[in-house]
Amino acid sequence: MQPVFASYPLGRFRRNRKSAAMRALTEEVTLGVGDLIWPVFLRDGTNRRDPIASMPGVERLSLDLVVEAAALAHDLGIPAICLFPYTDPALKTADCREAWNPENLTNRAIRAIKAAVPDIAVMTDVALDPYNLYGHDGLVRDGIILNDESVTALVRMALVQAEAGADILGPSDMMDGRIGAMRAGLEAAGHTDVAILSYAAKYASAFYGPFRDAVGASGALKGDKKTYQMNPANGDEALRLVARDLSEGADMVMVKPGMPYLDICRRVKEAFGAPTYAYQVSGEYAMIKGAAAQGWIDGEKAMLESLIGFKRAGCDGVLTYFAPEVARLLRR
Ligand code: PBG
Repeated sequence: MQPVFASYPLGRFRRNRKSAAMRALTEEVTLGVGDLIWPVFLRDGTNRRDPIASMPGVERLSLDLVVEAAALAHDLGIPAICLFPYTDPALKTADCREAWNPENLTNRAIRAIKAAVPDIAVMTDVALDPYNLYGHDGLVRDGIILNDESVTALVRMALVQAEAGADILGPSDMMDGRIGAMRAGLEAAGHTDVAILSYAAKYASAFYGPFRDAVGASGALKGDKKTYQMNPANGDEALRLVARDLSEGADMVMVKPGMPYLDICRRVKEAFGAPTYAYQVSGEYAMIKGAAAQGWIDGEKAMLESLIGFKRAGCDGVLTYFAPEVARLLRR
């Protein structure tokens, strides 16, 4: 598209910004509640909520409270909720077997939410880190994160989640070949309508710190995730990964983190036109909440500006811890 405009003084861009009415008419993208996926943290017990120090306003919730949260999200018009479990350290093993226990926290939560709030889409996390003695997303042997053995474990985990009623599986593990293996497993098991939202372009990022506190993985993790998560310097590789995951049967793709990678969101959307999501991760949330708590920025405005940025970059939606807060604001 070739921009054409009269030169000054005939052309005055400020005309279209003169009033709220003119700004509304000329707005290019909008943020709606339908764009939101709300990540929530689970814990065991009843009527229990733990604040997460590095994520002000976010709590780990016991199953009964997560069901209430899902009902509230549904009432607000939020289409999907994404579950992340805080696993009892006693259940973490080297073989990560709790990951495919049909009665684990996530699977119990899926069933409880689908029974009480059937119309909200339930998304899961498919990765081994909450269950792993070593804190990694894949199985570890002699300090090496194993690819193919991890894929086998992840498929077992995914199938149990599908069986529990998950609508969207979110493989966040970054092993090679997992999307194809999961899609084949789902087909074979008759779960033909379960969607896969692939964490296709997931970077090895410092912005995941607060999340690892929330799921209790910080203590266990030895080293970093650079052998499976992407190098922040790479953009072309993100396109190859998205192409690969779409061709293996992903229905939707994600770029993660969000704000430092808006160029990737734009390129992915333009290259493939597939449903594209950004994950505004825990560290991004913490930065906005932390600065707002100091009185250094206006938290509400910064939240809205950060989210509209994802829409402008071409995203169809955003996973954000702000989901209920922004949904309430959009309703007003
Ligand atoms: C791990 C996983 C991570 C996040 C979602 N799934 C952290 C990691 O890769 O170490 C991060 C989300 C966030 O920071 O909000 N499977």
